[in-house]
Amino acid sequence: MDFSKRLLDWYETEKRDLPWRHTKDPYVIWLSEIILQQTQVKQGLPYFEKFIERFPTVHNLAKAKEDEVMKLWQGLGYYSRARNLHFTAKYVSETLKGKFPDNFKDLKTLKGVGDYTAAAIASFAFDESVAVVDGNVQRVVSRFLGIHTPINSSEGIKEFKTKAQQLMDTSNPATYNQAIMEFGALHCRPKSPKCMFCVFQQDCAAYQLGKVEELPVKLKKTIVKKRYFNYLIFKDQDNVTLVQKRRGAGIWRGLYQFPLLESEEPSETPSSEDIKSLLDTGDFHIDRIEKLNETPVVHLLSHRKIMATFIQVSCVDSLSKLKLSKGIETYNLKELQKLPVPVLIQNFIESEFSLA
Ligand code: ADE
Repeated sequence: MDFSKRLLDWYETEKRDLPWRHTKDPYVIWLSEIILQQTQVKQGLPYFEKFIERFPTVHNLAKAKEDEVMKLWQGLGYYSRARNLHFTAKYVSETLKGKFPDNFKDLKTLKGVGDYTAAAIASFAFDESVAVVDGNVQRVVSRFLGIHTPINSSEGIKEFKTKAQQLMDTSNPATYNQAIMEFGALHCRPKSPKCMFCVFQQDCAAYQLGKVEELPVKLKKTIVKKRYFNYLIFKDQDNVTLVQKRRGAGIWRGLYQFPLLESEEPSETPSSEDIKSLLDTGDFHIDRIEKLNETPVVHLLSHRKIMATFIQVSCVDSLSKLKLSKGIETYNLKELQKLPVPVLIQNFIESEFSLA
């Protein structure tokens, strides 16, 4: 019996019932795949449900304000996905009149849609026989065929694409692609794969050679860089604070934060001079500067370790009267909850201001 037949038999009995597997609508499939990039199904599913409920069609998503999209995305991380999602929704809705491209090559012209996502949409929605290659698929292929080329080297990326395409059952691309990803996610897992009950035991090169634990090979990641963030929590008599929308090219672009002083080292409490020069508003009076947490809050991202300290800056003068620049705005503490913010800040707001 060949690879795909056994895989599809396994899938028939073991598959999870997931909402995006009951549709051929490219919008729904695209949305689910963008949400599921670098995200486990368990974590992504509630976001998918929220998005579909709020934006049942690409036109609804296109018409939304960016802040609302970012707010719904809050907590999923990799925020460029949300910005690309909104950008592409507008493009499909307005320029393409709501019609998604219907093949792999044209799907790749959409922002945020790479080889993997284009293959997923092309096969699930349009039955094009192009193999999906994500981490799950690479692991299955690497073990089944006993390939030691690193999955994240440029050579490996090419090789796994070719091999995945050769293994594919082209008569049923949609089900086959779901099946191989599901097999990687549930059975041929990174840790404790279920080799004892595996339909491929006899033919799996890694199993036969005792190399399951070694495969796939992955080159070491980039070093995690430490950064020290001092967030300034301004406070005046009217319960007004200052926030700033992040700009530039960073991962949190489009999200809001408290005005930020970054330091090279774990630092002392910033001085009123540091704070005034950050705001650049001319003279105003600071009453008190107080660290709210002695031990920094640690926030881990894929290649950063952020050590955050929250510093309360109490002012007598009304903050609303300041002449602000650099995208800094005044905000009522109660309205803060509505802004899209990094999870690090959300956690702080919830612990500090839930009673405000
Ligand atoms: N991860 C990414 N895409 C997926 C899909 N279609 N089903 C299950 N997990 C996935």
